[in-house]
Amino acid sequence: MKAKFITLDGIDGAGKSTNLAVIREWFEARALPVVFTREPGGTALGEALREILLNPATHAGLRAETLLMFAARRQHLEDVILPNLANGVNVVSDRFTDATFAYQGGGRGVETADIEILENWVQQGFQPDLTLLLDVPLEVSLARISASREKDRFEQEEADFFTRVRTVYLQRAAAAPARYAVIDSNRDKAVVKAEIEAVLSARLLGE
Ligand code: TYD
Repeated sequence: MKAKFITLDGIDGAGKSTNLAVIREWFEARALPVVFTREPGGTALGEALREILLNPATHAGLRAETLLMFAARRQHLEDVILPNLANGVNVVSDRFTDATFAYQGGGRGVETADIEILENWVQQGFQPDLTLLLDVPLEVSLARISASREKDRFEQEEADFFTRVRTVYLQRAAAAPARYAVIDSNRDKAVVKAEIEAVLSARLLGE
């Protein structure tokens, strides 16, 4: 099997942490080589930028914020994602460019065409093989965010922001169904787990 690049995305509170563990177990059970990483982050530079981007004290305009996301992403591609794939190691990233379209595009209002210019410049056509999009209704997302003790800079946004973020994620998935699997994660954990396992088996192994 050619190594694959899998991304996990969705609005805050959609259950990424729980389901990353499901993905990890799926790879471990099959003894398939894999690394887990995240955005923004994944490299020393990326993690430093993450600190800045998530810090509520940071003042960043929407274009500066978008550029920093892509700066972190470029380093992540060069240092982690592309070398592992070249070595036959699968890569699972907790968020990727869909998050920029959803948060900076939908949430903040950066033009889609502008994000696409940066995407092309940074990724040169490179795209995930599979994107698992975890989806929950807005009320569920907001309830989970408000339960977290310290909110990061994005989690402090208002409900309308997350409505726009969710809408963009769902629009992107609907426009390219071959790349995405939309998972309704507002269900029993065991049901969501079984669906994710089925998607991984079907899309990565053709089972
Ligand atoms: P998140 O992945 O939710 O981490 P945690 O589970 O630790 O809270 O936090 C990352 C935040 O960064 C999230 O609110 C979405 C935001 N983000 C963007 O706005 N644009 C991007 O391109 C990426 C990768 C993340």
